[in-house]
Amino acid sequence: MSVQAAVLCEPTVLDRPEQRFPLHLDVRMPRIRNLFHSATRRQWDPKTDIEWDRLDPSRYTEEQLIAAREYWSRRAWSEYGAISESPAILIRFYQDGLAPDLAYFFTIRSQEEARHAEVCYLMAERLGGYIEQPIVVDYQKSVSTHGIRKMALDPGFSVDAIVAALVCGAEEVAFDVFKHLLTVTTDPTALQVIKAIMRDEVRHCAFGWFYMEHRIPQMSASEIRVVEEAVITMLEKVEMNGYHSSWLAPDNPASLAEVRADRLTWEAGLGATVEELEKSVFVGTVQRLRRRMKPWGVNLPIFHHRKIGEF
Ligand SMILES: [Fe+2]
Ligand SMILES: [Fe+2]
Repeated sequence: MSVQAAVLCEPTVLDRPEQRFPLHLDVRMPRIRNLFHSATRRQWDPKTDIEWDRLDPSRYTEEQLIAAREYWSRRAWSEYGAISESPAILIRFYQDGLAPDLAYFFTIRSQEEARHAEVCYLMAERLGGYIEQPIVVDYQKSVSTHGIRKMALDPGFSVDAIVAALVCGAEEVAFDVFKHLLTVTTDPTALQVIKAIMRDEVRHCAFGWFYMEHRIPQMSASEIRVVEEAVITMLEKVEMNGYHSSWLAPDNPASLAEVRADRLTWEAGLGATVEELEKSVFVGTVQRLRRRMKPWGVNLPIFHHRKIGEF
C-alpha cells in the first residue's frame, strides 16, 4: 500500500457513525454561552469600520511599503489558516457530543477569523498590493500550518489537548504580540486594524481558559499529561519555529528576508515588531502560561531557544 493510500485509510472522527440525538441545547457552559452572545453583538465590517482613507502611502518609502505589504500578506495567510481550523474543531465538538455552547461559539469564531483575513488582505492592498505567497518558498514551512486541522479530526488527540495547545498556547502568544504592537505602531490605520482584530481575539483566548477551567477537574492524570504534551509541542515546535514571529524561525535566506521585512515595517510604524522588543514579550507569555497551567497539573519545562537562551 502506498503511503498516500495508508494515510487515506486512517480512521478520522468522520468515520464514526453519526449520532445526533438526543440533542441537548440547554446552556451547559454559561461562560462560553455568554462569549457566543457577546460575539454576536460585536460584529464589525473590515470594509466600512476601518478608516481606510486615513492610510497615506505617500508618507512611506518604496522599501517600507514593499516590506509592509509582505508583513500584512503574511498576517492574512495565517488568519486564513484559522478559517479552516475552526470548522474542523467544530466537527469534532459535534462528533464528540460536547456542550452546544462550544459549537455555537466556534461558529462565530470562524466568521471572525474570516474577517481578520479580509482586513489584513485589505491592508496589504492599500499599501500597494497583497502578495499571494511567501517570496522565498522555504518560509512556508514556518507559517503554513500548526497541524491543528489534522489533530481536530484525529480521534487520537483529545479536544482538551487541541484547545489547550491552540487557544491557551498559540492564540495567547498571538494576543500578547498584538498588545505589544499597540505600543510600537504609529500609522493610524494599522492601529485600527490591530485593535479591531484584538476585539475578537480577546474572546478567542477567554474561550480556551473557560473551557479548560471547566474540564480540568473532570480529567484524569493521564488525560492531563496529553494536554501538557500538546502545549509543549505547540510552544517548542510551532511557536519557537517562527509560526507567529519570523525571528524565532531557523536562520535561512527565507526567514532572514521575513525578519528584514518586519524590521522595515516596524521602522515605518506600520504594524510589525522586531526581535529585541518582542523577545521579552514572548518570554513573558511563556512564563505566564507556565504559572497559569501549573495548578492544572500541567508542568511546562524550561525551554531553550538559540536566540533567547533558557527561559
Ligand atoms: Fe484571528
Ligand atoms: Fe483567533
